[in-house]
Amino acid sequence: MPNVTTSVEDADLRVLGIETSCDETAAAVVAGDRRILAERLLSQLAEHQPYGGIVPEIAARAHLDHLDRLIEEAMAEAGLGFADLHGVAATGGPGLIGGLMVGMTMAKAIAAVHGLPLLAVNHLEGHALSARLTDGTAFPYLLLLVSGGHCQLVIVEAVGRYRRLGTTIDDAIGECFDKAAKMLGLGYPGGPAVERAAADGDAARFALPRPLKGRPGCDFSFSGLKTAVRHTIEALPPGRLSHQDVADLCASFQAAVADSLEDRCGNAIKIFRDRHPEANSLVVAGGVAANGYLRTRLSRLAKASGLDLVAPPQALCTDNAAMIAWAGIERLRAGLTDELDFAAKPRWPLGAAELES
Ligand code: KG4
Ligand code: ZN
Repeated sequence: MPNVTTSVEDADLRVLGIETSCDETAAAVVAGDRRILAERLLSQLAEHQPYGGIVPEIAARAHLDHLDRLIEEAMAEAGLGFADLHGVAATGGPGLIGGLMVGMTMAKAIAAVHGLPLLAVNHLEGHALSARLTDGTAFPYLLLLVSGGHCQLVIVEAVGRYRRLGTTIDDAIGECFDKAAKMLGLGYPGGPAVERAAADGDAARFALPRPLKGRPGCDFSFSGLKTAVRHTIEALPPGRLSHQDVADLCASFQAAVADSLEDRCGNAIKIFRDRHPEANSLVVAGGVAANGYLRTRLSRLAKASGLDLVAPPQALCTDNAAMIAWAGIERLRAGLTDELDFAAKPRWPLGAAELES
């Protein structure tokens, strides 16, 4: 195992990041001073769209077809050769195993040939630390991680120290957006389509449930809300959903999600403030954090609780390789490198649960 070099100033570190855990093939080079030197991202949207969701075999094949070229382009744009890097980071899980193996194998090959440290990054850790890349947010902070596969509240204490306060007991939040969109014929991915449609809608028209609102704890639940959307659609004239019906239902849905998030985050903020009275950041990350309405609602909540809301720009909320490269830099600094026999993990929870679910 190569040693982590100590002769290089922190700011001069250069790490290549690779992301292939889902339906985005991405490569980026990030510097220790938080500059993104180059970024390449290829979305597989068109390949998966006809199926209304991600097909794992198609995803793995597409990663294989494009990853080499994206890495080459990112390295050329950064003006670096592999020998100039200080580490290679790739998403090691959680995610679709075929894609994870494509990315990890590529990272291992580069690391082995050029004698570089390998950094196997937990995808959720990538999202969790992205606010430190974009805003330099200091530890500890409270993180609301909202993505296609996850919905969690986590206290981020340090690199590798994550205390989970709550998680979803059924569906992930992004999955709920995607399913609601599918029922409304809005296509995939659903989140951005729901947000666009909701902009012209009346959030008060449909009374949807606010899952777990008012209950103790920090867990989430979204399957009841999804069912309520289905029942609402079924109660409308069959096959004749008007533009306004769709807009109103999307707005009502988004408001229900926001109320539920606000309630759960409120409980987590109390715990966080008790434990870390000196801390002042609520970070929101993950694909669903790209949603402008949810950001506004969370920003209001944070302000009322004396916290600042830190939300990375949209392109760094959805899956990307810069966050993986950055998590690699943070792990490299902490001496947390991996062996070349690291096995990709389709399931890989971030930190231990703190509260009883
Ligand atoms: O983090 P991400 O890119 O991939 C995962 O790691 O899951 O998150 C993807 C999810 C999808 O479910 C997508 O519908 C949702 O993020 N999403 C949104 C928005 N943009 C993406 N959800 C709500 N509003 C958005 N604007
Ligand atoms: Zn993600």
